[in-house]
Amino acid sequence: MDTILVLDFGGQYSQLIARRVREQHVYAVICPFREITVKGILDGGYRGVIMTGGPSSVNDPASPHFDPGLLDAGLPVLGICYGAQLMAQMAGGTVAAAGAEGEYGRTRLTAEDDALFLGVPRSSVCWMSHRDRITEVPEGFSVTGRTPQCGCAAMSDGRRKLYAVQFHPEVTHTEFGTRILSNFLDACGCERQWEMSRFAAEAVERYSAALKGKRVLMALSGGVDSSVTAALLGKAIGGGLTCVFVDHGLLRKGEADAVEEVFRERLGDGFVRVDAKERFLRELAGVTDPERKRKIIGEQFIRVFEETAESLGGFDLLAQGTIYPDVIESGKGDSAVIKSHHNVGGIPDDVGFGGIVEPLRDLFKDEVRAVGLELGLPAELVYRQPFPGPGLAVRVMGEVTERKLEILREADAIFREELESAGEERPSQYFAVLTDTMAVGVKGDSRLYGCVVALRAVTTEDFMTADWTRIPYEVLERASVRITNGIPSVARVVYDVTSKPPATVEWE
Ligand code: XMP
Repeated sequence: MDTILVLDFGGQYSQLIARRVREQHVYAVICPFREITVKGILDGGYRGVIMTGGPSSVNDPASPHFDPGLLDAGLPVLGICYGAQLMAQMAGGTVAAAGAEGEYGRTRLTAEDDALFLGVPRSSVCWMSHRDRITEVPEGFSVTGRTPQCGCAAMSDGRRKLYAVQFHPEVTHTEFGTRILSNFLDACGCERQWEMSRFAAEAVERYSAALKGKRVLMALSGGVDSSVTAALLGKAIGGGLTCVFVDHGLLRKGEADAVEEVFRERLGDGFVRVDAKERFLRELAGVTDPERKRKIIGEQFIRVFEETAESLGGFDLLAQGTIYPDVIESGKGDSAVIKSHHNVGGIPDDVGFGGIVEPLRDLFKDEVRAVGLELGLPAELVYRQPFPGPGLAVRVMGEVTERKLEILREADAIFREELESAGEERPSQYFAVLTDTMAVGVKGDSRLYGCVVALRAVTTEDFMTADWTRIPYEVLERASVRITNGIPSVARVVYDVTSKPPATVEWE
């Protein structure tokens, strides 16, 4: 399949670039610049390369650089932001700091006639975020775009199919960003072959051949990712698959029974529920550091699966519903570890299975949902809000205790009930958090020094970036009144109005 390589220089939008390319039905993979050479790129058979943004200055010798041979390798290359400046430098041009005048946010782009700007009006809105700028355009290139502050907002060398844009075509605020990326894909000669229907059919076929005769234990949480994985592998190997659901005691109110009800009916004896509540709480006792909590949970999951596998007569492989953002955010190459997703960064080195199967490891969330629908899963399940594997442990700040979990379960159930009965469009994810802040309140003429519950609701497509949801005040009010009235130890309820970035969706 035609594939674009997103050469990652540590930019915050690298995943977004890959998603935007895939939205145009061309497969894209992200690779940190340190992990590949020009030869590796050519051997990989990529149709084109996109060099991403990054936080550094190309003039800093310690900043990421790449073999200039890439520009003469015969492949179309698009440089974005830092990637554009790097391309200029690699081709012999110059880049300089723009002094005090950085350029951030909405800007008007004036575009020239160029293959990259086919169908783009001469004047349009683009989104900038840079301090350095290209001051001398390299030989063979011509300037193809300008903004009021940037004499070279875009340049290209049509002969070598090299394109550079200082602005960010991947963000939705850039009016014709999709068209610009599409033009680049056309310049690469990419066929639009990346379809979820095709992915699903091919994955079923591939796994039914690869896992023939194997016994696979599927780690099923009942969430979207593991449910879609289970459906895919179920189609591939049928009876060879056993789904194990671990009740770690960190689930929402009534959730363990609800998951059992749904899957028992579908899977019969192929569904096994394990009660591991005491074990997880024991291991988490006294632990307050969020990353430690995640690692402990990741390890305990594996240990429970190993023991269950043994008690059920042994399995060859473990299957997980890992998806691309889990892998990226758990730290790959130069990008920072944001948090160790329990199923990636939290996995211990020694896993007592012959291997781990992760059919959705390369997919973004919206792609996973499309595969779920393709495989015939009901829409209610496919569009369920996600729930993190470490569960309420990352929503109870500080040490996790049964008492705190009880408070959080109640508050969370009330908030969800109020939002769901409001008749508004539901946010992408919504939940309560038990903070470790105490506050003074007054209940029934007495002083209360009680807990602070935070409510969180976000709107997002892919969970890589998210906006806080403007839910109606009436819903917040009803939730607040019910939580403070119904849970004696809660003194206050607050609403989280932070987007991702700078925050993350979960509090830990
Ligand atoms: P963050 O907090 O990283 O969350 O902005 C993005 C999405 O991922 C979910 N999440 C996790 N899911 N294991 C999971 O299965 C994890 O360790 C984990 N951490 C966060 C989070 O609920 C949100 O949907």
